[in-house]
Amino acid sequence: MDTVMISREIRLASRPKGIPDAGNFLLAQSEVRPPQNQQVLVRNLFMSVDPYMRGRMNEGKSYVPSFELGEVLDGGAVGEIIESRARELKPGDIVTSNCGWREYFVAAPKELHVVSRENQPLSVYLGALGMTGMTAWTGLNLVEVKAGDVVYISGAAGAVGNVAGQLAKLRGCRVIGSAGSFEKVLFLRDECGFDAAFDYKVGPVVEQLKIKAPDGIDVYFDNVGGETLEAALSALRTHGRIIACGGISGYNAERPQPGPTNLFNVITKRLTMKGMIVRDWMGRQGEFEKEVGGYFQTGKLKSKETVVTGIDQAVDAFIGLFAGKNIGKMIVKLGGAQDCR
Ligand SMILES: NC(=O)c1ccc[n+]([C@@H]2O[C@H](COP(=O)([O-])OP(=O)(O)OC[C@H]3O[C@@H](n4cnc5c(N)ncnc54)[C@H](OP(=O)(O)O)[C@@H]3O)[C@@H](O)[C@H]2O)c1
Repeated sequence: MDTVMISREIRLASRPKGIPDAGNFLLAQSEVRPPQNQQVLVRNLFMSVDPYMRGRMNEGKSYVPSFELGEVLDGGAVGEIIESRARELKPGDIVTSNCGWREYFVAAPKELHVVSRENQPLSVYLGALGMTGMTAWTGLNLVEVKAGDVVYISGAAGAVGNVAGQLAKLRGCRVIGSAGSFEKVLFLRDECGFDAAFDYKVGPVVEQLKIKAPDGIDVYFDNVGGETLEAALSALRTHGRIIACGGISGYNAERPQPGPTNLFNVITKRLTMKGMIVRDWMGRQGEFEKEVGGYFQTGKLKSKETVVTGIDQAVDAFIGLFAGKNIGKMIVKLGGAQDCR
């Protein structure tokens, strides 16, 4: 197959100020050259939109490089090999990559991670069995969450949060979650098995947490930061632990937000707060896939997704993360997914 393929892709047109809008992005077409020796052609089936991408849209140094203006974005994707000039991979193989936000691409095998077709839908490799699931698993390991711990999770109905809660339940914890709607509260209680959940938008987190955990909490899994972190600092018991995973409440702030007013609790209660970046843990991916993949295959872990269809919907899906439009993992289904199982 020597024809040049046309692939649609999303580029960064301008750097957002505050909450991103559609004008910050451009849907464009590019030519994909046929794969050369030791390369494969991949058709993306699903791509991921994630809150951390917001930080990459700003200028300046962070733990991942900024997106370049005028260039295609990148991020997690699941694709199918449709042409191979590499010994290790054959057409029909399913791979994950960091080449999302586009329909087709050419890559070397070392840029791809082969996954099994057995786990369906294949988008699960972007959620419960992918980066966000691994973030949940890593966070719990980071502070050694164990049976009997009372664990509070913010952003609980999202991709990381709902898996963190389900895994904590499997470890024998009492799990409390907060999320931004009544529908999400029901999802946490009825589908994910949380012991208690509340809508953080209907009243102060500190008050609602006091009702759900009158004797305090042992672990706080922080996806949100801001007021919620402050409430958790008040609720934590002596020797409590905080998993510092994310701070989405501040991602669109145009200037740095003040820190919690009650940070002094770290001293008086001898708290431990550990920051994590899941990428540092990739050496343990096999262990994660074995353990959490096992829970998924035996029905002990449910995978929940909000799916939008078409690359032309990817920007809305991304912006929707900041308005809480997703329950579970936000997934963009691309054209190739229709005829691939
Ligand atoms: N450290 C790492 O390596 C790592 C890896 C992956 C993700 N993360 C972080 O983990 C967190 C969750 O990521 P995710 O992929 O699972 O996203 P997600 O929770 O699936 O989606 C984002 C959710 O955040 C909530 N949200 C949006 N704006 C908010 C605000 N101002 N205050 C409180 N909640 C708000 C929304 O739910 P509601 O309806 O509940 O508001 C939304 O659905 C993010 O902070 C992300 O950056 C960290």
